[in-house]
Amino acid sequence: MVTKLTIVGAGAVGAAAAQWAVSRNSADEIVLIDVVEGVAEGKALDLSQAAPICGFNGRIWGSSDFKDCTESDVIIITAGLARKPGMTRDDLLAKNVQIIKSVTENCAQHAPNTCFVVVTNPIDAMVYTVFKVSGFARNKVVGMAGVLDSARYRTLIAKELGISPVSVTALVMGIHGDNMLPLTRLATAGAASVENLLSREKLDEIVKKTQHGGGEIVSLLKTGSAFSTPGISAVEMAESILKDQKKVLPCAAYLEGEYNISGVFLGVPVVLGKNGVERIIEFELTQSEKEALALSVEAVKKQVAATGI
Ligand code: 2OP
Repeated sequence: MVTKLTIVGAGAVGAAAAQWAVSRNSADEIVLIDVVEGVAEGKALDLSQAAPICGFNGRIWGSSDFKDCTESDVIIITAGLARKPGMTRDDLLAKNVQIIKSVTENCAQHAPNTCFVVVTNPIDAMVYTVFKVSGFARNKVVGMAGVLDSARYRTLIAKELGISPVSVTALVMGIHGDNMLPLTRLATAGAASVENLLSREKLDEIVKKTQHGGGEIVSLLKTGSAFSTPGISAVEMAESILKDQKKVLPCAAYLEGEYNISGVFLGVPVVLGKNGVERIIEFELTQSEKEALALSVEAVKKQVAATGI
């Protein structure tokens, strides 16, 4: 079966996602779409010429026509504005909601059976917008963020312990914003709990740094936000769906009673397979974790209210 991945938005995150997808052979067909004529075509043509070196066996092309997303199994949406220094993710909301509405209408028309992976910020509100505008079932719409935030968290823990980040498992739940919830109780190095390996003080520092990881990069770059790890995070999710890998990944999923929360997209561990969000993994949270997650819910609800959807 031929697999098809479309990436909408050929800016920094979209181009990075396309590059990771080509280098990982994530799909047989990869389409990069951008409304600015020539940009997606140029970037895709450039990437196609990397195929002999990186061993990509598929086909990648660029387009400014949404018709080209027809029959996509997965569509990653990265279109929209990115943060500049001094901006919060919420500052992007008004502009990006208009862009996302139009992208969703176009994609849903041409690829009614696709699965959306939403990356545009503020993610938890934009993924809600895609869900409402497309009218798709909740398993077909998922937001990226937990994979990125958890990767940042794992990297910081590994650095502190002087070990490979691959050997660290850790989970960040909740909103993609300052109220995100990096769980120290469940983070491990090897099989050992990091709570036995690092002081409370150090862990609190790592949690704060994780929560502000995106902002740190924005203030260094000055002209935009992180793109490489957001790109590969979206591609890891897309691949799990395209290849029916059934990876358990932290993603923004629409909750209908899970964790006693309903009516919002929130970062939780989910199983991603050919049907999109195939299962939401639930486990018991401590009282303080429940309270922290409630802050995320409140913040997401505020964002969603501001979309006017
Ligand atoms: C970040 O955290 C882009 O929001 C994204 O870097």
